[in-house]
Amino acid sequence: AYEKLWLAASVLLILLLLGSVTYGAVGPGVAMVSDSEQPVDATALDEDERFSEPRVEQVGENEYAAYVVAFQFGFQPDPIVVPEDSTVTFYVTSRDVIHGFEVVGTNANTMVVPGEVSEITVETDEPTEYGLICNEYCGAGHHVMEGKVNVV
Ligand code: CUA
Repeated sequence: AYEKLWLAASVLLILLLLGSVTYGAVGPGVAMVSDSEQPVDATALDEDERFSEPRVEQVGENEYAAYVVAFQFGFQPDPIVVPEDSTVTFYVTSRDVIHGFEVVGTNANTMVVPGEVSEITVETDEPTEYGLICNEYCGAGHHVMEGKVNVV
């Protein structure tokens, strides 16, 4: 009888451990899943079809592309409005100096370099308003360079 009790206890322990791992992986409402870079002409963003009008576009059933320009001292568009329960790829570039793009309280975080497009893909969860900050020193207004990412 003791053997069965021990067996039941260890099965329960394993289930609890599995449960905590699964719970931990759910994480924050915006979670970064990938990060890469590609070139762009920083002196001609006005003529670039992605960045002449910074915006969020639907590109698939539950997939969105957000074209974002960082500048001294802010982000465009502001706020960046993206739908809940979707996959959002941010394409972020700078029109002047190096900036950061960090969605506060999440692991979505990348450096933004003029001449490069930082591509980061996130999964959104439920509606939340996130702060967006620059975490690379970029000049006198660095400390006030912020935006918003609104999951709706
Ligand atoms: Cu932009 Cu610091």
